[in-house]
Amino acid sequence: MRLITTLTAAALTIGLATFAAPALSSAFTKAEDAVEYRQGAFKLIRENFGYMSGMVRGEIDFDADQFKQRSKALVHLSNIPFDAFTGAGENATNNSDALPAIWQNWSDFESKRDAFQSAAVELAEAAESGNIRDIRPKFMATARTCQQCHEGYRAD
Ligand code: HEC
Repeated sequence: MRLITTLTAAALTIGLATFAAPALSSAFTKAEDAVEYRQGAFKLIRENFGYMSGMVRGEIDFDADQFKQRSKALVHLSNIPFDAFTGAGENATNNSDALPAIWQNWSDFESKRDAFQSAAVELAEAAESGNIRDIRPKFMATARTCQQCHEGYRAD
């Protein structure tokens, strides 16, 4: 019985290790693919963010439903680019504006990513109110998180 338990535990450990492996390595095998992927994701982020910015600044008429939709898209998109900074895309400089400082200060980069992702969630929550007065400060806070990461980690 004890042997069986041990074997089961061992099998479980091996099983888990098998599952853990892909999470540790990157989904990309070529650096240029990783770079293109993260840049593509950031372009979609800009697309949605720019639209919301237009409404916050009053350049586009405020439409609560549109804003809600864009802010939800931002929440999803905020998770996408960061999968492509490890593995094949790591330290890639070809066609990339990502600075080596990212990998030298990885935990700080991660905390800037987390700050952005939480700000995006708070923005989407504020968007539920449909009230531009509640939305504006959350939008500005999110914009600051973009800037705070780009300052140290993206080439101009
Ligand atoms: C945690 C760091 C981080 C955060 C937060 C972040 N970015 Fe970036 N962003 C980067 C890095 C690094 C690059 C360069 C990627 C590359 O070229 O490999 C980049 C690239 C971009 C690009 C250029 C994409 C292209 O065409 O090559 C845009 C646009 C962009 N970010 C917009 C935003 C916006 C808007 C936000 C906030 C809503 C944001 N980013 C938040 C790190 C970040």
